[in-house]
Amino acid sequence: MAVKGKIEWISGPAVKASGMASAKMYEVVQVGEERLIGEIIKLTGDIAFVQVYESTSGLRPGEPVYGTGLPLSTTLGPGMIGTIYDGLQRPLDVIAKKAGPFITRGITADSIPFDKPWEFDPTIKQGDTIEGGSVIGIVQETPLIEHKILVPPNIPKCTVKEVAKHGRYKADDEIASVEDKNGKKHELKLYHRWPVRIPRPIRERLDPVIPLLTGQRVLDSFFPMAKGGTGAIPGAFGTGKTVTLHSVAKWADSKVVFHIGCGERGNEMTEVLVEFPELTDPQTGRPLMERTILVANVSNMPVAAREASIYTGVTMAEYYRDMGYDVVLVADSTSRWAEALREISGRLEEMPAEEGYPSYLASRLAEFYERAGRVIALGTPERTGSVTLIGAVSPAGGDFTEPVTSQTIRFVRTFWSLDARLAYSRHYPAINWMTSYSGYVDTVKTWWESNVDKEWFQVRADAYAILQREDALKEIVRLLGPESLPDEEKLILDVARMIQIGFLQQNAYDPIDAYCSPMKQFKMMKMFVIFYQEALKALRSGVQLARIRGMQVIPKMLRAKFAIKNEEMDKLDQLVEEMLNEFRSLYGVKEVQVVE
Ligand SMILES: Nc1ncnc2c1ncn2[C@@H]1O[C@H](COP(=O)(O)OP(=O)(O)O)[C@@H](O)[C@H]1O
Ligand SMILES: [Mg+2]
Repeated sequence: MAVKGKIEWISGPAVKASGMASAKMYEVVQVGEERLIGEIIKLTGDIAFVQVYESTSGLRPGEPVYGTGLPLSTTLGPGMIGTIYDGLQRPLDVIAKKAGPFITRGITADSIPFDKPWEFDPTIKQGDTIEGGSVIGIVQETPLIEHKILVPPNIPKCTVKEVAKHGRYKADDEIASVEDKNGKKHELKLYHRWPVRIPRPIRERLDPVIPLLTGQRVLDSFFPMAKGGTGAIPGAFGTGKTVTLHSVAKWADSKVVFHIGCGERGNEMTEVLVEFPELTDPQTGRPLMERTILVANVSNMPVAAREASIYTGVTMAEYYRDMGYDVVLVADSTSRWAEALREISGRLEEMPAEEGYPSYLASRLAEFYERAGRVIALGTPERTGSVTLIGAVSPAGGDFTEPVTSQTIRFVRTFWSLDARLAYSRHYPAINWMTSYSGYVDTVKTWWESNVDKEWFQVRADAYAILQREDALKEIVRLLGPESLPDEEKLILDVARMIQIGFLQQNAYDPIDAYCSPMKQFKMMKMFVIFYQEALKALRSGVQLARIRGMQVIPKMLRAKFAIKNEEMDKLDQLVEEMLNEFRSLYGVKEVQVVE
């Protein structure tokens, strides 16, 4: 019997209810006469603290609170792709149709269309053995996504008794009947439900050895992300978090994209809602929304829904992972999510920790990022999938010591640090190459070496060393000016500058430069490294620095990112040849010596 308690007090989205002794943590409750949706987030004795996902105005102490016995859950089945959801997995367009542009209370909306017939193609037959997570059939969800119909993860090993023939079915139709070893029958449908706060179970975790290729040079070549990895992109307002995450969403070699938006400015989420549906998938030329799901927290929604949204999003992401797909989820921005957590905690009068955030901020961040991974899914046939989680962080004033940034750093392995000074000088992406890092360089090394070039690791290290040496020289340059340096060090400054302009800077809006293939990245990086080595040789053989600086090939090298397409790698090879020839010609000409 589900509990029925009584409201004691109300503070914004937080409600305290008594008489809740038999309720469960994270149980969904219906609050007040209007039965607003809420979730128990704290239980002490018979007192339950509930975060309410709808406006609590007008709610009064003494009104009832009804337990449902169920945790907050997602509905997982065909029809999710292309949808824009709120934090409770309600499709925004369905809500808008029911309620107009403003979300009123007590509105329920199915997460997937239950009235739409889908063409189901079974992949199992009578007598087969299946288990939790097994694929039982296929539905073409969108032109880009083949939706694998999965047995709910908690179903035991069963024998298939009956399975629907190829044909059209609705989500709620029974499509298979299976029986476990105790003779218990289970009815399978095109969808199932799963609680948002419980990670979907997997068979095995795999090492993050495959890079998530984004086509962004500074990311892939210097601070790589791995499929199933975690990353944070912190930066002050206007430094490029959203643009970078959109580039990742658009270009990453993942099958399914999730974008969880917690807008920073009032209209920012609206921009995403307008912009995303207009993006095309570069691989297929079809709308990107045919493989994208958006979770939008617009500003007129209660903060509690924002708190729930990252769990709703990551649960859906795990579901597509379990089909055997690589999924990338970007959250923009996790700071706004943390603020929702802080607000609710404050309402509950919990003891605040740093800057008013609750002491469990760290564990909540950890729980989120722990849901990333490359895995072997449960059930048959064997499938490998991944969920990559990347969160923007927006520290006020760009101060990375504030709690959300400093706690996030503990749980992510890739850190793309946006630098306001770079953004100000229009160096985009404004990712600081000295303070960023990736814990996946060693894990993805083998992939690069066997798929791109066996010299990848070495060339990357050589290129990075030039940037590091420049950084070390900066202080001297600031104090004494560049002219105080010996020529070999001036050369370091020159080549570092060339790498910054010709390689690290990348224009997200240029048709050729927006995406750089792994091979083009490698060849460009190597070109700059060869230039440095040849220039150093030339200097040491007495060629004057001014003549190296005046080489005609340099502007061509700097333009290569725009001028040479990913398919034209022979042109990059020719450019390197041209560079080597020009170096040879420098030796051919005698230096003019002033003899006294
Ligand atoms: N890779 C890029 N290429 C070109 N312009 C960029 C790039 N990254 C950022 N910008 C510029 O910086 C502006 C602010 O970026 P945005 O992502 O909105 O910042 P944030 O989300 O950090 O507030 C963009 O409107 C764009 O003009
Ligand atoms: Mg932004």
